[in-house]
Amino acid sequence: MPPSRRLVLVGFMGCGKSSVGRLLARRLGWDFLDLDARVEKAEGRSVAAIFAESGEAHFRAAEAREAERALSRDGVVLAAGGGWAAQPGRLAGLPEGTISVWLRVSAEEAVRRARPRSGRRPLLAGPDPLGTARELLSRREAEYARAHLEVDTEGRTVEDVAARVLQLLESEPGIHTPLETC
Ligand code: S3P
Repeated sequence: MPPSRRLVLVGFMGCGKSSVGRLLARRLGWDFLDLDARVEKAEGRSVAAIFAESGEAHFRAAEAREAERALSRDGVVLAAGGGWAAQPGRLAGLPEGTISVWLRVSAEEAVRRARPRSGRRPLLAGPDPLGTARELLSRREAEYARAHLEVDTEGRTVEDVAARVLQLLESEPGIHTPLETC
């Protein structure tokens, strides 16, 4: 089996995809890409502004385009937005050489962690963020669960989660990363 060329981190808002992804990229010597940031750059406005001015469908189309671009590159860790991997077929259709990792988080913890970045999380900006998070998460879990690997982030630091991902990558048969040659 050829070496893995990219990692995609998926999971609900606030699961730590960006912080863990940045650390993993450093450890692997790969580039870190944040999907929300790429969409914002391509659109020239914030995630919240895209939702408010053009609607969620427009955001999803831009997100799909940017993810495809990012996943055509080698040596990258991509932190996908929480809704990207929730679309049916996304994880089954990943390009060869891409390992997907689901970072699990509860709705309660997600809402606690997500608050400071609400400008990028219009879906949780309504009057009942916890109710919305519970509902969205229960609808999405079956898709997130299609990832190759999963790590529970509850009560764990970014460093712990990244270390666990690296450990799984090393022990998984058929998965080869640059770490093996270090
Ligand atoms: C979304 C998650 C956000 C962002 C947008 C929609 C979602 O990304 O893409 O607000 O549908 O779960 P993060 O998961 O990085 O917060």
